[in-house]
Parts: sequence; C-alpha cells; structure tokens
Amino acid sequence: MTPPAPPHFAIAIDGPAASGKTTLARELAKLLGLVMVNSGEMYRAVTWQVLNAQIDPHDHAAVIALLQHIDIQCGDDGISSTLTINGIDPGAALRCAAVNANVSTIAAIPEVRAKLVALQRDYLKRTNIVMEGRDIGSVVFPDTPFKIYVDAAEHVRAARRVKMGEIDSVAQRDAADSRRATAPLIIAPGAAILDNSHHTIASGVRAAIEILKHQGLQC
Ligand code: DC
Repeated sequence: MTPPAPPHFAIAIDGPAASGKTTLARELAKLLGLVMVNSGEMYRAVTWQVLNAQIDPHDHAAVIALLQHIDIQCGDDGISSTLTINGIDPGAALRCAAVNANVSTIAAIPEVRAKLVALQRDYLKRTNIVMEGRDIGSVVFPDTPFKIYVDAAEHVRAARRVKMGEIDSVAQRDAADSRRATAPLIIAPGAAILDNSHHTIASGVRAAIEILKHQGLQC
C-alpha cells in the first residue's frame, strides 16, 4: 500500500505589479528550501497563446473555446515552477509588451481562472511552496496561515519595470486586476502587509521572515 502523502504547506505572497513579490518569493523559497511558484506566468502563457492564435482577448467566447485546446503542464525544477503550453516553453516571450498589455483582460475571465487555479492547487500535492500572485491568499489557498501582501508606492513600481526594460503600464494593470469581478487583487483576510517601497532584497526577506514566524512558521 502506498503511504499517505505528507501534508504540504503554502506561503501565499500577493500584491500589485512590480511590488517586488517575485524577488521576495524567490529569496524566501531559497532560504526555506521551498519551490517558488509564479502564478502570473500561467496567466501570461494563456495570453500568449490567445495572441498567437490571433484571437481578440476581449472575445470571451473565443478565448473559452481556445481554452479547450490548451494543455498546460506545470512542474518545477526543484527551485522554481516551470511550464509548457501545448508543448512549448514560451520563455521570455511571456514578458513582451503585447502580453503585458492583454494579460489582465485574459485573467478576468472566470473560466481561465478556474483552469489555472486547479493547476496551482496541484502543486501542494507534491511539495511545499511559496506561490506569488494576486489571489493566492484569498482564493487559491485561503486556509494557509502564511500570507503576505507586498505593496510598494506606484512610482517605485513603475521605475522597477523601466529598470527591467519592460513596457508595462502597471497602474492600468493594477486597476483592472483590482476591479475585476472574479478573484480581484485584495488584501486577503489574515494577510500581513509588507511595504516594500524602501527595502533592499535582504531587508525585505528579513521583514517577511519576521511576519511568517509571527504567523506560526517554524523557521
Ligand atoms: O505577477 P504578474 O505581473 O506576472 O501577473 C500577470 C497578470 O496575471 C496580472 O496582471 C494579473 C494576472 N494574475 C492574476 O490574475 N492572478 C494571479 N494569481 C497571478 C497573476
């Protein structure tokens, strides 16, 4: 008989675009020996596929029809999440200007979210994770006690994207992500807020560890 799988836990990191949550999640995962899962990449991958198929992202019926033909395989390399979409790893294409401009429209479609949330929850069957996104503490893993909402001033976030060399209207994306009807960006019940406007990577990680210890993480 196969022994029951050990229970795994998730640390949920949510926050607006370019708040530094990906870097924080990556560093926490390294420090704590967990897998870092970037849920935004999943929404980006679907957006990339929709654009490749020359479907209008606002045509929900067409997006939902395409969704039936999209096979997303999510995994990890022991450190971070990996994904392929219909057998292809889109890599850097996930961060192109066209994906940045359309990802919030695709992420607002409930059917897209349902498909991706199921894949996100699957990670917990396999391993302990730090997952970052917009609805991780509120919808994907509402029962986890470990939740951080990472925020940063808007001008700091816009400057971060410019530094990354990306064309990305973070204010517009945040407005769309916060106002959508399904799983909007909110401060999840029980989440602690970490203002990342002036932290270095190291001091941000220290602040996050203090929060997580306070939330009961043994580390
Ligand atoms: O984290 P990111 O900026 O790469 O995410 C890209 C978009 O995906 C973001 O604007 C909204 C959407 N997203 C979401 O709706 N829910 C998540 N859990 C993660 C991302």
